[in-house]
Amino acid sequence: MAIKNMGLATVAFIMILAGIYGLGYTDSKIPAVYNYQLAYNGATHTAHTVTFEHAAHAMEYKIACVHCHHTLEPGATAVDETCTDCHANTQMRSFPQAESIPEDERLDYYFLALHDQCINCHRAAREADTWTRAPVGCWRCHLYTKK
Ligand code: HEC
Ligand code: HEC
Ligand code: HEC
Ligand code: HEC
Repeated sequence: MAIKNMGLATVAFIMILAGIYGLGYTDSKIPAVYNYQLAYNGATHTAHTVTFEHAAHAMEYKIACVHCHHTLEPGATAVDETCTDCHANTQMRSFPQAESIPEDERLDYYFLALHDQCINCHRAAREADTWTRAPVGCWRCHLYTKK
């Protein structure tokens, strides 16, 4: 009886972990790394890259899927909507332009929604742990190669 209960408890525990950390993650449809290739028209630099280690954020840093895919039910791992489905305006590509966007329209823009999510969490991570590798400065995420 006790052993049977323990088995059930273990199964329940694994299911809770699966819900929180998404053990279903190995599902091949889920991207492991996003390499955003961005154009830049500056005089001294060419195109640059922002790397987002999606798998590491979920599995290694143990961030729940719902934290970023914030419209999911807690514990759900079936992401069928991506950020651009709702933060749909992909037009604005320049940082100074972002300054003139009214506060209530900011989140229409994909790049600002993404930025806010990445940078706000990294800021909080830094407040909690000064040794964290979570980047906050522009050029720590936007990696340029000199011409
Ligand atoms: C740290 C934030 C973060 C965490 C944690 C996270 N994701 Fe994501 N995920 C993203 C972002 C951001 C994108 C989309 C990037 C884009 O479209 O530019 C994405 C994209 C996806 C996509 C592709 C969607 C599509 O149709 O293009 C799937 C599927 C997905 N995530 C599933 C998961 C699952 C399942 C988990 C939990 C195991 C998870 N994600 C954890 C941020 C996160
Ligand atoms: C199903 C639609 C939907 C999806 C998918 C979605 N969002 Fe949102 N998001 C919203 C709505 C609605 C709001 C609230 C908007 C407002 O207050 O103007 C919001 C708010 C936000 C905010 C503001 C802070 C907060 O949590 O309220 C950020 C940052 C954000 N989203 C980033 C993202 C990122 C990054 C993704 C993809 C990983 C994503 N969203 C996916 C609909 C969505
Ligand atoms: C909910 C919190 C959270 C969100 C959202 C998030 N990150 Fe992170 N990120 C972290 C933490 C925590 C670390 C550092 C872990 C460590 O120090 O071991 C990190 C580390 C990183 C690193 C450094 C990795 C390394 O190995 O040097 C990069 C680059 C990064 N994140 C990019 C992004 C991008 C781009 C986004 C948005 C698409 C994003 N992150 C969203 C929490 C987050
Ligand atoms: C945590 C990582 C991170 C930090 C820090 C960060 N960015 Fe970004 N940035 C991104 C990601 C991810 C995107 C989305 C890529 C895309 O649009 O496909 C992006 C997009 C952009 C874009 C629009 C895309 C383009 O065409 O260039 C601009 C402009 C930009 N960032 C400027 C900045 C500036 C200026 C700072 C510093 C104030 C900064 N970023 C800090 C991750 C970061």
